[in-house]
Amino acid sequence: MEKIGYGIIGGGLWGETHARIMAAHPLAQLVAVCDLVEERAQQIAEKFGATAYYTDFHEMLKNPGVQAVGIVTPDFAHCEPFIAACQAGKHILLEKPLATTHEDLQAMRTAYQAANVRVMVDFHARWNPPFVVARDNIRANQIGDLISMYYRLNDAIFVPTQMLSWAEKSSILWFLGSHTVDTLRFFAESEVKRVYSVSRSEVLVKKGINVPDIYQSILEFENGVIATIENCWIIPNSNPHWNDIKLNILGSAGMFNMDLTGNQAIERYLENKSDHPDILIMPTIHGKPTGFAYESIRDFIERLVSGEEFIVGFEDGYRVSKVLLAIMESAQNRQPVEVVYD
Ligand SMILES: NC(=O)c1ccc[n+]([C@@H]2O[C@H](COP(=O)([O-])OP(=O)(O)OC[C@H]3O[C@@H](n4cnc5c(N)ncnc54)[C@H](O)[C@@H]3O)[C@@H](O)[C@H]2O)c1
Repeated sequence: MEKIGYGIIGGGLWGETHARIMAAHPLAQLVAVCDLVEERAQQIAEKFGATAYYTDFHEMLKNPGVQAVGIVTPDFAHCEPFIAACQAGKHILLEKPLATTHEDLQAMRTAYQAANVRVMVDFHARWNPPFVVARDNIRANQIGDLISMYYRLNDAIFVPTQMLSWAEKSSILWFLGSHTVDTLRFFAESEVKRVYSVSRSEVLVKKGINVPDIYQSILEFENGVIATIENCWIIPNSNPHWNDIKLNILGSAGMFNMDLTGNQAIERYLENKSDHPDILIMPTIHGKPTGFAYESIRDFIERLVSGEEFIVGFEDGYRVSKVLLAIMESAQNRQPVEVVYD
Protein backbone atom coordinates (compact mmCIF):
# COMPACT_ATOMS: atom_id res chain seq x y z
CA MET A 1 0.00 0.00 0.00
CA GLU A 2 1.25 3.49 -0.84
CA LYS A 3 2.27 5.47 2.22
CA ILE A 4 1.11 8.98 3.04
CA GLY A 5 4.06 11.40 2.74
CA TYR A 6 4.11 13.53 5.91
CA GLY A 7 5.82 16.84 6.51
CA ILE A 8 6.20 18.58 9.86
CA ILE A 9 6.03 22.35 10.33
CA GLY A 10 7.59 23.13 13.71
CA GLY A 11 10.27 20.68 14.78
CA GLY A 12 10.22 21.47 18.51
CA LEU A 13 9.31 19.28 21.43
CA TRP A 14 5.96 18.10 20.07
CA GLY A 15 7.06 18.18 16.44
CA GLU A 16 9.62 15.54 17.41
CA THR A 17 6.74 13.44 18.75
CA HIS A 18 4.98 13.68 15.38
CA ALA A 19 8.24 12.63 13.71
CA ARG A 20 8.69 9.63 16.02
CA ILE A 21 5.17 8.35 15.37
CA MET A 22 5.19 8.90 11.62
CA ALA A 23 8.65 7.38 11.18
CA ALA A 24 7.36 4.17 12.77
CA HIS A 25 3.90 4.05 11.20
CA PRO A 26 3.35 1.46 8.43
CA LEU A 27 0.99 3.80 6.54
CA ALA A 28 3.19 6.92 6.75
CA GLN A 29 6.48 8.09 5.32
CA LEU A 30 8.16 10.98 7.09
CA VAL A 31 9.32 13.06 4.11
CA ALA A 32 10.25 16.49 5.40
CA VAL A 33 10.74 18.64 8.49
CA CYS A 34 10.57 22.43 8.61
CA ASP A 35 11.69 24.65 11.45
CA LEU A 36 12.77 28.28 11.60
CA VAL A 37 15.94 26.98 13.22
CA GLU A 38 17.77 25.14 10.43
CA GLU A 39 19.83 23.02 12.80
CA ARG A 40 16.66 21.80 14.48
CA ALA A 41 14.97 20.90 11.19
CA GLN A 42 18.07 19.03 10.03
CA GLN A 43 18.49 17.23 13.35
CA ILE A 44 14.89 15.94 13.44
CA ALA A 45 14.98 15.02 9.75
CA GLU A 46 18.19 13.01 10.18
CA LYS A 47 17.11 11.39 13.44
CA PHE A 48 13.84 10.08 11.98
CA GLY A 49 14.87 9.46 8.37
CA ALA A 50 13.18 12.34 6.51
CA THR A 51 14.87 13.07 3.18
CA ALA A 52 14.38 16.84 3.22
CA TYR A 53 14.47 19.69 5.67
CA TYR A 54 13.46 23.35 5.32
CA THR A 55 13.36 26.66 7.19
CA ASP A 56 10.48 28.07 5.10
CA PHE A 57 7.20 26.14 5.13
CA HIS A 58 6.19 27.64 1.77
CA GLU A 59 9.17 25.79 0.24
CA MET A 60 8.26 22.56 2.01
CA LEU A 61 4.69 22.79 0.77
CA LYS A 62 6.00 22.72 -2.83
CA ASN A 63 7.43 19.23 -2.22
CA PRO A 64 5.14 16.83 -4.16
CA GLY A 65 6.12 13.99 -1.82
CA VAL A 66 4.33 15.74 1.05
CA GLN A 67 0.62 14.89 1.03
CA ALA A 68 -0.16 15.75 4.65
CA VAL A 69 1.39 18.08 7.19
CA GLY A 70 1.52 18.30 10.95
CA ILE A 71 1.39 21.93 12.11
CA VAL A 72 3.29 21.99 15.38
CA THR A 73 4.30 25.63 15.70
CA PRO A 74 3.64 27.52 18.98
CA ASP A 75 0.00 28.14 19.96
CA PHE A 76 -0.13 31.65 18.49
CA ALA A 77 1.58 30.67 15.20
CA HIS A 78 -0.83 28.16 13.63
CA CYS A 79 -2.67 30.47 11.23
CA GLU A 80 -0.09 31.21 8.52
CA PRO A 81 1.10 27.64 7.94
CA PHE A 82 -2.50 26.40 8.11
CA ILE A 83 -3.68 28.76 5.38
CA ALA A 84 -0.62 27.99 3.23
CA ALA A 85 -1.17 24.23 3.64
CA CYS A 86 -4.86 24.59 2.68
CA GLN A 87 -3.87 26.55 -0.42
CA ALA A 88 -1.23 23.94 -1.30
CA GLY A 89 -3.85 21.15 -1.05
CA LYS A 90 -2.19 19.31 1.84
CA HIS A 91 -4.21 17.44 4.46
CA ILE A 92 -3.56 18.78 7.96
CA LEU A 93 -3.08 17.48 11.47
CA LEU A 94 -3.24 20.74 13.41
CA GLU A 95 -2.00 20.98 16.96
CA LYS A 96 -4.31 22.46 19.54
CA PRO A 97 -5.45 25.18 20.01
CA LEU A 98 -6.73 25.85 16.50
CA ALA A 99 -6.00 29.59 16.87
CA THR A 100 -5.85 32.22 19.60
CA THR A 101 -7.58 35.26 18.03
CA HIS A 102 -10.96 35.88 16.39
CA GLU A 103 -9.14 37.18 13.28
CA ASP A 104 -7.03 34.03 12.87
CA LEU A 105 -10.08 31.82 13.40
CA GLN A 106 -12.01 33.60 10.67
CA ALA A 107 -9.10 33.55 8.21
CA MET A 108 -8.48 29.85 8.83
CA ARG A 109 -12.13 28.95 8.38
CA THR A 110 -12.29 30.85 5.09
CA ALA A 111 -9.15 29.07 3.83
CA TYR A 112 -10.42 25.66 4.97
CA GLN A 113 -13.82 26.10 3.33
CA ALA A 114 -12.18 27.12 0.05
CA ALA A 115 -9.78 24.16 0.04
CA ASN A 116 -10.26 20.51 -0.75
CA VAL A 117 -8.30 19.16 2.22
CA ARG A 118 -9.09 17.15 5.34
CA VAL A 119 -8.28 18.60 8.77
CA MET A 120 -7.98 16.99 12.18
CA VAL A 121 -7.25 18.96 15.36
CA ASP A 122 -5.08 17.08 17.83
CA PHE A 123 -7.33 17.02 20.91
CA HIS A 124 -5.78 13.75 21.97
CA ALA A 125 -7.79 13.49 25.21
CA ARG A 126 -10.51 11.97 23.02
CA TRP A 127 -8.30 8.89 22.82
CA ASN A 128 -7.82 8.72 26.61
CA PRO A 129 -9.35 5.33 27.60
CA PRO A 130 -11.11 6.45 30.85
CA PHE A 131 -12.67 9.38 28.98
CA VAL A 132 -13.89 7.19 26.13
CA VAL A 133 -15.33 4.64 28.58
CA ALA A 134 -17.14 7.42 30.47
CA ARG A 135 -18.48 8.97 27.25
CA ASP A 136 -19.75 5.58 26.02
CA ASN A 137 -21.44 5.02 29.40
CA ILE A 138 -23.07 8.45 29.26
CA ARG A 139 -24.32 7.69 25.73
CA ALA A 140 -25.69 4.35 26.92
CA ASN A 141 -27.62 6.22 29.64
CA GLN A 142 -25.76 4.41 32.44
CA ILE A 143 -25.70 7.48 34.71
CA GLY A 144 -29.04 8.94 33.63
CA ASP A 145 -29.21 12.51 32.37
CA LEU A 146 -25.95 14.42 32.52
CA ILE A 147 -26.28 17.13 35.16
CA SER A 148 -22.87 18.66 35.86
CA MET A 149 -19.11 18.18 35.49
CA TYR A 150 -16.00 19.33 37.35
CA TYR A 151 -12.65 19.17 35.56
CA ARG A 152 -9.27 20.29 36.88
CA LEU A 153 -6.43 20.09 34.36
CA ASN A 154 -3.28 21.76 35.68
CA ASP A 155 0.42 21.83 34.83
CA ALA A 156 3.51 21.98 37.02
CA ILE A 157 5.26 25.34 37.07
CA PHE A 158 8.25 24.08 35.06
CA VAL A 159 6.00 24.18 31.96
CA PRO A 160 5.62 28.01 31.72
CA THR A 161 8.98 28.77 33.35
CA GLN A 162 11.33 26.23 31.73
CA MET A 163 9.65 24.12 29.04
CA LEU A 164 7.89 26.73 26.89
CA SER A 165 9.89 29.71 25.63
CA TRP A 166 6.60 31.31 24.49
CA ALA A 167 4.38 30.88 27.61
CA GLU A 168 3.78 34.63 27.78
CA LYS A 169 2.37 34.62 24.25
CA SER A 170 -0.01 31.79 25.14
CA SER A 171 -1.84 30.99 28.38
CA ILE A 172 -2.84 27.97 30.40
CA LEU A 173 -6.23 28.29 28.72
CA TRP A 174 -4.74 27.77 25.28
CA PHE A 175 -2.23 25.18 26.41
CA LEU A 176 -4.50 22.96 28.57
CA GLY A 177 -7.87 24.70 28.73
CA SER A 178 -8.35 23.83 25.06
CA HIS A 179 -8.23 20.13 25.98
CA THR A 180 -10.53 20.76 28.95
CA VAL A 181 -13.25 22.45 26.92
CA ASP A 182 -13.07 19.94 24.09
CA THR A 183 -13.28 16.99 26.50
CA LEU A 184 -16.36 18.44 28.20
CA ARG A 185 -17.99 19.01 24.78
CA PHE A 186 -17.19 15.35 24.06
CA PHE A 187 -19.03 14.26 27.23
CA ALA A 188 -21.92 16.71 26.99
CA GLU A 189 -22.39 16.36 23.21
CA SER A 190 -23.52 19.96 23.31
CA GLU A 191 -22.00 23.41 22.76
CA VAL A 192 -21.06 25.92 25.46
CA LYS A 193 -23.44 28.87 25.37
CA ARG A 194 -22.33 31.03 28.33
CA VAL A 195 -19.20 31.34 30.49
CA TYR A 196 -18.14 33.12 33.65
CA SER A 197 -14.50 33.12 34.67
CA VAL A 198 -12.10 34.59 37.21
CA SER A 199 -8.32 34.48 37.04
CA ARG A 200 -5.31 35.44 39.15
CA SER A 201 -1.88 36.72 38.07
CA GLU A 202 0.52 36.58 41.02
CA VAL A 203 3.28 34.00 40.78
CA LEU A 204 4.34 34.07 37.11
CA VAL A 205 4.12 37.86 36.84
CA LYS A 206 6.55 38.14 39.78
CA LYS A 207 8.92 35.86 37.85
CA GLY A 208 8.74 38.23 34.86
CA ILE A 209 6.35 36.06 32.81
CA ASN A 210 3.38 38.28 32.12
CA VAL A 211 0.56 35.73 31.96
CA PRO A 212 -2.19 34.59 34.39
CA ASP A 213 -1.44 31.72 36.78
CA ILE A 214 -4.95 30.30 36.94
CA TYR A 215 -8.47 30.52 35.55
CA GLN A 216 -11.53 29.12 37.28
CA SER A 217 -14.51 29.09 34.97
CA ILE A 218 -18.16 28.08 34.92
CA LEU A 219 -19.62 26.84 31.65
CA GLU A 220 -23.28 26.47 30.69
CA PHE A 221 -24.06 24.17 27.78
CA GLU A 222 -26.97 24.52 25.37
CA ASN A 223 -28.51 21.27 26.69
CA GLY A 224 -28.54 22.57 30.28
CA VAL A 225 -25.41 20.77 31.54
CA ILE A 226 -23.18 22.95 33.76
CA ALA A 227 -19.44 22.57 34.37
CA THR A 228 -16.72 24.05 36.53
CA ILE A 229 -13.19 23.97 35.16
CA GLU A 230 -9.81 24.86 36.63
CA ASN A 231 -6.72 25.49 34.50
CA CYS A 232 -3.56 26.48 36.32
CA TRP A 233 0.16 26.19 35.54
CA ILE A 234 1.82 26.99 38.83
CA ILE A 235 1.38 23.73 40.74
CA PRO A 236 4.64 22.67 42.42
CA ASN A 237 7.13 20.62 40.45
CA SER A 238 7.04 18.12 43.32
CA ASN A 239 3.54 17.02 42.24
CA PRO A 240 3.77 13.25 41.58
CA HIS A 241 3.06 13.92 37.87
CA TRP A 242 3.57 16.95 35.60
CA ASN A 243 -0.23 17.26 35.27
CA ASP A 244 -2.91 17.33 37.94
CA ILE A 245 -6.03 15.77 36.43
CA LYS A 246 -9.24 15.38 38.44
CA LEU A 247 -12.67 14.88 36.98
CA ASN A 248 -16.17 14.34 38.28
CA ILE A 249 -19.16 13.67 36.04
CA LEU A 250 -22.56 13.71 37.75
CA GLY A 251 -25.69 12.29 36.20
CA SER A 252 -29.27 12.01 37.48
CA ALA A 253 -28.68 8.30 38.24
CA GLY A 254 -24.93 7.89 38.68
CA MET A 255 -21.50 9.45 38.72
CA PHE A 256 -17.90 9.05 37.55
CA ASN A 257 -14.84 10.12 39.53
CA MET A 258 -11.40 10.19 37.93
CA ASP A 259 -8.01 10.91 39.42
CA LEU A 260 -5.73 10.31 36.47
CA THR A 261 -2.48 11.53 37.98
CA GLY A 262 -2.69 10.96 41.71
CA ASN A 263 -3.95 7.44 41.01
CA GLN A 264 -2.49 4.52 42.92
CA ALA A 265 -1.88 2.25 39.91
CA ILE A 266 1.88 2.78 40.18
CA GLU A 267 3.93 4.61 42.78
CA ARG A 268 7.71 4.94 42.46
CA TYR A 269 9.95 5.65 45.47
CA LEU A 270 13.50 6.73 44.72
CA GLU A 271 16.30 7.88 47.01
CA ASN A 272 15.14 11.52 47.14
CA LYS A 273 11.73 11.64 45.55
CA SER A 274 8.57 9.68 44.90
CA ASP A 275 6.27 9.98 41.90
CA HIS A 276 3.64 8.26 39.80
CA PRO A 277 5.18 7.37 36.42
CA ASP A 278 3.02 8.02 33.37
CA ILE A 279 1.02 4.98 32.30
CA LEU A 280 -1.66 6.63 30.18
CA ILE A 281 -0.35 9.60 28.22
CA MET A 282 2.83 8.41 26.51
CA PRO A 283 4.58 5.47 28.15
CA THR A 284 6.92 3.27 26.12
CA ILE A 285 5.76 -0.35 26.16
CA HIS A 286 8.18 -2.97 24.77
CA GLY A 287 10.01 -0.24 22.89
CA LYS A 288 6.82 1.12 21.27
CA PRO A 289 5.55 4.64 22.03
CA THR A 290 2.11 3.94 23.48
CA GLY A 291 -0.61 6.02 25.12
CA PHE A 292 -3.36 8.36 24.03
CA ALA A 293 -1.03 11.24 23.09
CA TYR A 294 0.37 8.98 20.35
CA GLU A 295 -2.89 7.29 19.36
CA SER A 296 -4.42 10.51 18.05
CA ILE A 297 -1.47 11.07 15.70
CA ARG A 298 -1.67 7.48 14.45
CA ASP A 299 -5.43 7.79 14.04
CA PHE A 300 -4.97 10.80 11.75
CA ILE A 301 -2.97 8.74 9.27
CA GLU A 302 -5.23 5.70 9.56
CA ARG A 303 -8.43 7.68 8.90
CA LEU A 304 -6.76 9.65 6.13
CA VAL A 305 -6.02 6.35 4.39
CA SER A 306 -9.37 4.68 5.15
CA GLY A 307 -11.45 7.76 4.35
CA GLU A 308 -13.28 7.50 7.69
CA GLU A 309 -14.35 10.76 9.30
CA PHE A 310 -11.85 12.21 11.80
CA ILE A 311 -12.75 11.98 15.50
CA VAL A 312 -12.05 15.74 15.87
CA GLY A 313 -12.59 18.11 12.97
CA PHE A 314 -11.93 21.75 12.11
CA GLU A 315 -15.24 22.93 13.58
CA ASP A 316 -14.42 21.36 16.97
CA GLY A 317 -11.17 23.32 17.15
CA TYR A 318 -12.91 26.50 15.99
CA ARG A 319 -15.64 26.22 18.65
CA VAL A 320 -13.19 25.44 21.45
CA SER A 321 -11.17 28.57 20.60
CA LYS A 322 -14.34 30.67 20.60
CA VAL A 323 -15.20 29.37 24.10
CA LEU A 324 -11.69 30.16 25.37
CA LEU A 325 -11.81 33.69 23.96
CA ALA A 326 -15.15 34.17 25.76
CA ILE A 327 -13.58 32.87 29.01
CA MET A 328 -10.73 35.38 28.69
CA GLU A 329 -13.17 38.20 28.01
CA SER A 330 -15.22 37.17 31.05
CA ALA A 331 -12.15 37.03 33.31
CA GLN A 332 -11.09 40.47 32.13
CA ASN A 333 -14.51 42.11 32.57
CA ARG A 334 -15.72 40.05 35.56
CA GLN A 335 -19.00 39.45 33.73
CA PRO A 336 -20.67 36.37 32.21
CA VAL A 337 -20.15 36.21 28.43
CA GLU A 338 -22.37 34.59 25.79
CA VAL A 339 -20.29 32.57 23.33
CA VAL A 340 -20.79 33.71 19.74
CA TYR A 341 -19.74 31.13 17.15
CA ASP A 342 -20.61 33.21 14.00
N1 LIG B 1 -1.60 17.54 21.49
C1 LIG B 1 -1.04 17.96 22.62
O1 LIG B 1 -1.56 17.75 23.69
C2 LIG B 1 0.21 18.77 22.58
C3 LIG B 1 1.29 18.52 23.44
C4 LIG B 1 2.37 19.40 23.40
C5 LIG B 1 2.35 20.49 22.54
N2 LIG B 1 1.27 20.71 21.75
C6 LIG B 1 1.16 21.87 20.86
O2 LIG B 1 2.16 21.77 19.85
C7 LIG B 1 2.58 23.09 19.47
C8 LIG B 1 4.10 23.17 19.60
O3 LIG B 1 4.47 22.98 20.96
P1 LIG B 1 5.98 22.60 21.35
O4 LIG B 1 5.95 22.27 22.80
O5 LIG B 1 6.51 21.60 20.39
O6 LIG B 1 6.71 24.02 21.13
P2 LIG B 1 8.28 24.24 20.83
O7 LIG B 1 8.56 25.66 21.16
O8 LIG B 1 9.10 23.18 21.48
O9 LIG B 1 8.38 24.03 19.25
C9 LIG B 1 7.82 24.90 18.31
C10 LIG B 1 8.78 24.93 17.11
O10 LIG B 1 8.14 25.63 16.05
C11 LIG B 1 9.14 26.35 15.36
N3 LIG B 1 8.48 27.38 14.56
C12 LIG B 1 7.87 28.51 14.99
N4 LIG B 1 7.35 29.18 13.95
C13 LIG B 1 7.64 28.46 12.83
C14 LIG B 1 7.39 28.65 11.46
N5 LIG B 1 6.74 29.71 10.99
N6 LIG B 1 7.86 27.72 10.58
C15 LIG B 1 8.53 26.63 11.02
N7 LIG B 1 8.81 26.41 12.33
C16 LIG B 1 8.36 27.31 13.22
C17 LIG B 1 10.06 26.85 16.45
O11 LIG B 1 11.34 27.20 15.95
C18 LIG B 1 10.09 25.67 17.41
O12 LIG B 1 11.18 24.79 17.14
C19 LIG B 1 1.82 24.06 20.40
O13 LIG B 1 0.68 24.54 19.73
C20 LIG B 1 1.43 23.18 21.57
O14 LIG B 1 0.28 23.62 22.27
C21 LIG B 1 0.22 19.85 21.73
